[in-house]
Amino acid sequence: MLHAFSRTAPACGPPALAPDLDAARSPQPPGHRATGTRTALVTGASSGIGAAVARRLSAEGGWRLVLNGRDPARLDRVAADTSATVFPADLTEPGADRRLAEFAVSTAGPVDLLVAGAGIGWAGELCDMPPHVIDEVFETDVLATLRLVRRLLPGMVEAGSGRVVLIGSLAGAVGVRGEAVYSAAKAALGVFADALRYELRGTGVGAGLVVPGVVDTPFFERRGTPYRRSRPRPLPPERVAEAVLAAARGRDEVYVPGWLRLPCRIHGAMPGLYRRLAARFG
Ligand SMILES: NC(=O)c1ccc[n+]([C@@H]2O[C@H](COP(=O)([O-])OP(=O)(O)OC[C@H]3O[C@@H](n4cnc5c(N)ncnc54)[C@H](OP(=O)(O)O)[C@@H]3O)[C@@H](O)[C@H]2O)c1
Repeated sequence: MLHAFSRTAPACGPPALAPDLDAARSPQPPGHRATGTRTALVTGASSGIGAAVARRLSAEGGWRLVLNGRDPARLDRVAADTSATVFPADLTEPGADRRLAEFAVSTAGPVDLLVAGAGIGWAGELCDMPPHVIDEVFETDVLATLRLVRRLLPGMVEAGSGRVVLIGSLAGAVGVRGEAVYSAAKAALGVFADALRYELRGTGVGAGLVVPGVVDTPFFERRGTPYRRSRPRPLPPERVAEAVLAAARGRDEVYVPGWLRLPCRIHGAMPGLYRRLAARFG
């Protein structure tokens, strides 16, 4: 099901915008850029980290916010706090990336910042994982994200400015037991961001990756396996929202908390040692 609801504008963008967003950059909505206001599109905004990012951007001011998630009621609650426009949609549905991008451009103007927060997890041994869930995790975490970036990037490059911020995970940096498919999906986002940075050099557009550890959101409940470890303690999603802002301002990789960079470095430099330590301490 794809719903479109805007608190400030009609739900559907003009068909003339599709499929090339370059053409949609003009004419801009009244006040856009001229007033210094920028447009941010946040996915995963109906819950957890994405909702915290929307609130943080709203508190900072100077942003027109377009929010996406699947649950219209939860999305509306976040929008009410942030004066945002919402576009509820399942991003794994064919064409959802195009419809969301068109909606954002037509209601709020060319997108200056994409925060791709939509994601799901699954925990358990691979042999127990229902095969269709592998598809769901990759469709949501990887393919839907890449499609949306592909959709919005040409407009940013043409404008000579813009920022894409992806939400990775510690699991994608070191591989976590019981999260093989999720780890692979998040690793894909990490190398995607790395590779993209080469081709974006000199364009004025950047790609940031935020790498959170454990964050206190409904993520664990939804994946069907609660977080049971005592350490590391889950961080509030507001900490990740700060990291997203740092990535939006130009940092390529932001670990949350910052000390997570250390195990990732050990994993990269001395994988054998890392595996021995991980096997011992979990
Ligand atoms: N929580 C953690 O410990 C943690 C750690 C590292 C990385 N992350 C990553 O952070 C991101 C946000 O997770 P979270 O912790 O905030 O989890 P969350 O509270 O469960 O939020 C997930 C968000 O993604 C949206 N979403 C899921 N599937 C979607 C789909 N098919 N189409 C559109 N939207 C979809 C959800 O929308 P609805 O709720 O409306 O369905 C929700 O807004 C994810 O990418 C996750 O992998 C989380």
